[in-house]
Amino acid sequence: MSDRIELKKAKRLKGEIIPPPDKSISHRAVILSSLAKGKSIVRNFLRAEDTMSTMNAMKMLGVDIEQQTSRAAEQQSKGKDTTALLHYCSTDLVIHGKGIRGLKEPEDVIDCGNSGTTARLMSGILAGNPFFSVLTGDDSLRQRPMARVINPLKEMGAEISGRGGDKYLPMAIKGRKLKAIKYAMPVASAQVKSALLLAGLYADGETEISEPVKSRDHTERMLPSYGAKIKIEGFKIKIKGGQELKARNIDVPGDFSSAAFFIAAALLIPDSAITIKGVGINPTRTGLLAILKKMGADIKIENIRDVSGEPVADIHCKTADSLRAVKIGREIMPSLIDEFPILCVFGTQADGVTEIRGAEELRVKESDRIQAMAEGLRKMGAEVKEFKDGLSIKGNANLKGASIDSYGDHRIAMAFSIAALIARGKTTINGISSVNISFPGFFEILKKLMR
Ligand code: S3P
Repeated sequence: MSDRIELKKAKRLKGEIIPPPDKSISHRAVILSSLAKGKSIVRNFLRAEDTMSTMNAMKMLGVDIEQQTSRAAEQQSKGKDTTALLHYCSTDLVIHGKGIRGLKEPEDVIDCGNSGTTARLMSGILAGNPFFSVLTGDDSLRQRPMARVINPLKEMGAEISGRGGDKYLPMAIKGRKLKAIKYAMPVASAQVKSALLLAGLYADGETEISEPVKSRDHTERMLPSYGAKIKIEGFKIKIKGGQELKARNIDVPGDFSSAAFFIAAALLIPDSAITIKGVGINPTRTGLLAILKKMGADIKIENIRDVSGEPVADIHCKTADSLRAVKIGREIMPSLIDEFPILCVFGTQADGVTEIRGAEELRVKESDRIQAMAEGLRKMGAEVKEFKDGLSIKGNANLKGASIDSYGDHRIAMAFSIAALIARGKTTINGISSVNISFPGFFEILKKLMR
């Protein structure tokens, strides 16, 4: 099968969708349910490549996990609207957790695929388990920085080493008794924070972690719901070691980061109006909404409710008459970290120059997203200046079709697919199988909404 798609300008986008289950919450739900003692049910788990990597890792550690057709998917597949496509990527999991001391030594290397969240969160758990394990990943993941977890875990007493002088995967871990540390994270990273919180469960004493800017807080929200006691004081989190987790049932909300591509499509394509139902609107994730408001977009957030400790809502959006360019800096970056690619597409259509700075972390994601966006948007006719820590984009660009390299990065592929729908001529997106990392069914849903 060819790994590319050709897309043309869209006339309109109309309808209603339910986005895929949240990727970050799905990873954490399978991890915490595996570490809890007894049966947990995770409803609406994301069945995509990244989260399957975490599920498989837990299976290799001896956790018994069954997949069942998700109730949500079953209901939707009976319906006649676009939400029927939900069955592509929603499943329910029944997890028979082993307790934090009940994991077994894996018989083989654990392959984390493309998933940074799997590699980093698993390293925190494995550091405290009394056996040998090795984590590796695909070509992209093996180039991503792992010193950010290896160094603090070593400080906690872990016997752990990685390729290239403890910088990269593969990473070998000989788990042992850990000691609590006080650690000030140099970069705001939810993956590092979560790895250390999980290691903290295995440590003697109270581990204290602080971050420079608040990153997504799903782990902190979920740990107490599994019975763990944690203390949160501003940007500081404390966790005592030796606590057991209790099994629970959990519902995963829709992923704002996947919904963001449809918000963009509706705002940028003429004559469009869509409703996105059941989207997580955790404030540590929705920096894009604040930015779009500043740009002048009309987005309605309705029916706000709580789903397993996370705020969830329905989002209505329609074509924007005009958008103002904005300057975006370091402080807001963690809350829109995964929306950087689509934000760049917004920048091409705003009045004025959009500048995004303080975004150097984007250079070490699934691809160098600053470079990938600058290259692709220039090919499509936009004027882009690249900086070490971000870029600036001249707005009111009349985008034209081009051949785009997604660099095997799901969010780059999806962002350029939306750009293609507002460009004249034909755009070819190469490397589209990467969308299966977070959003199987992305193109099918897009097609349905364009009808
Ligand atoms: C994630 C955290 C973010 C984000 C990634 C998922 C998580 O990475 O970019 O897609 O689930 O914790 P960092 O924590 O490294 O910034």
